[in-house]
Amino acid sequence: MADTQKTATAGQVDPTRLPRHIAIIMDGNGRWATRRGLPRTAGHKAGAETFRRIATYCKNLGVQYLTVYAFSTENWKRSADEVGAIMSLLKKYLMEAVDTMERDNIRLHFFGDMTPIDPELRALARETDEITEHLDANAFQANVCLNYGGRDEILRAARAFARDCADGKKNPEELDDAAFSTYLDSAGVPDPDLIIRPSGEQRISNFLLWQCAYSEFYYTDALWPDFDEAELNRAIVAFQSRDRRYGGVKK
Ligand code: FPP
Repeated sequence: MADTQKTATAGQVDPTRLPRHIAIIMDGNGRWATRRGLPRTAGHKAGAETFRRIATYCKNLGVQYLTVYAFSTENWKRSADEVGAIMSLLKKYLMEAVDTMERDNIRLHFFGDMTPIDPELRALARETDEITEHLDANAFQANVCLNYGGRDEILRAARAFARDCADGKKNPEELDDAAFSTYLDSAGVPDPDLIIRPSGEQRISNFLLWQCAYSEFYYTDALWPDFDEAELNRAIVAFQSRDRRYGGVKK
């Protein structure tokens, strides 16, 4: 682990300087299961519980957005069993969410191309989207990336913008960062302040490629199912020790 991350663990979270948006690559489920002699799907089941726990913790802390990478555009390469198990976990989670998000004031949103997703799961996602529309815009929001890839998101946005230009609704000369952002799955959501990747891997894996331009990165060796509140606190403390300059210089 990097020295800066080690020293940061000694501090306490400053509740007045929380990251507004945390994004997490939920990595290490398979290894967690294999180390226990369990099928990989058991790792995803444990990982889904960790998501629930960390989302609740973020909400209680006062973090406004949590975005998680649940299934990438490349994850279809996995066995049908494993893909099916992840989709079933998502279905189970969404069915519970439909009943509880209003009570708990939790907004839920999806990033990704939902076209090839099973119709039952898609219908549930539509239902949670409709509930979200009626909830307070400042309430905690969880974004689940499903059949998501950063490059795919940018391509879909570029196509949609090109269509608007062809229809005479937009002019290519007027396109800037802010205008392009409105075509992305993340439209209306601020860029992540902090991106966390557990499991010892240090790469971006096609996650939020547009949005991560000025994100702070934090890595930990903990596998996602073992990731807990203390791990999240360490990540936030590390974030709070960073000097964010956005390409400028310190005054
Ligand atoms: C990456 O670990 C994890 C995934 C591809 C799936 C994540 C899905 C869930 C946690 C379940 C559903 C989510 C929600 C939001 C309810 P890996 O399998 O690549 O791990 P490995 O690198 O150890 O093999």
